[in-house]
Amino acid sequence: MSPLPENEWVHIPVLAREVVTHLSAVHNLKRMIDGTLGNGGHTRMMLENNPELEVLGIDRDTAALERAGKNLEEFGSRFTAVHGEFAQLESLSRAHGWDQVDAILLDIGVSSPQIDDPARGFSFRNCGPLDMRMDRSLKLTASRVVNFYSEEDLAKIFYEYGELRESRKLARAIVAARELKPLATTDDLCAVCDKVLHKKHPGDLPSPTRVFQALRIEVNGELEQLKAGLQGAQNILRPGGRLAVISFHSLEDRIVKNFLRDAARECICPPSLPMCVCGNHAKFDLPVRGVISAADDELAANRRSASAKLRIADRTQWR
Ligand SMILES: C[S@@+](CC[C@H](N)C(=O)[O-])C[C@H]1O[C@@H](n2cnc3c(N)ncnc32)[C@H](O)[C@@H]1O
Repeated sequence: MSPLPENEWVHIPVLAREVVTHLSAVHNLKRMIDGTLGNGGHTRMMLENNPELEVLGIDRDTAALERAGKNLEEFGSRFTAVHGEFAQLESLSRAHGWDQVDAILLDIGVSSPQIDDPARGFSFRNCGPLDMRMDRSLKLTASRVVNFYSEEDLAKIFYEYGELRESRKLARAIVAARELKPLATTDDLCAVCDKVLHKKHPGDLPSPTRVFQALRIEVNGELEQLKAGLQGAQNILRPGGRLAVISFHSLEDRIVKNFLRDAARECICPPSLPMCVCGNHAKFDLPVRGVISAADDELAANRRSASAKLRIADRTQWR
């Protein structure tokens, strides 16, 4: 695909050109799962570029499904939307009557409509309730985590999922604050963060980005979802089928990288053995070395694309 004029980037999903080019290259492409349907932007481009393609679109967020359903109405029976988690993509695919698929896309993380809606509580830029659930039918909210988790568990979440230097200090400050009054809003949490977090420059407000990231990962079980989704993709892709995964932070990309590195191994014998006895076979080939990042024109038009990393893997014949 050629470069896009500047004004056409507005509704273009991240790394769209690269996703469409790599997934459309699959031989005999007929069935694709979009495990993170969102607005349906990637799915739309795939359907437009591949007239014989059918897509099963999955999202945890019913608001996203409704929006995507409207956006993709014109494709009729070529598109089906399903409420669910991509951790369940294998069973959702089988329930749809597909025992094998040709392509799978995971564009993980939150969507712009989720971030931009203060009522969802994903952003520290606008005050809203401490919610952060992608699936609003689930019970665990950011408010429950912040107001009921032990100091130790909070510190662990901030350390592991936010890679935050001040994880213990912040957990302590949250527990002290909630003893006076429960933290109800994103602003309440930001006020505690402002007191504790390191400031880049004197006079600046510290950025609670990593705190919000950590809570979002905990509330939505995002890392477990990703691990299960990758395994599901391995199980349901047909030989020669292709997986494309876009991640936005290092924790996620590390999981994708390690999973694919292990799955692409022919031999899993201990290095001390003089010859291979494991009988293992690689489950994936990696046609692209490393990650694909946004090109300069996309970077200039969409800041969010700067942290996006796309990895591509092709399913081998081995079960
Ligand atoms: C970055 S957006 C996807 C945007 C989409 N590719 C597009 O072109 O519009 C991520 C979407 O995935 C959904 N999502 C995130 N984790 C999920 C999971 N584990 N299972 C199902 N959907 C998930 C979110 O609700 C959100 O709508």
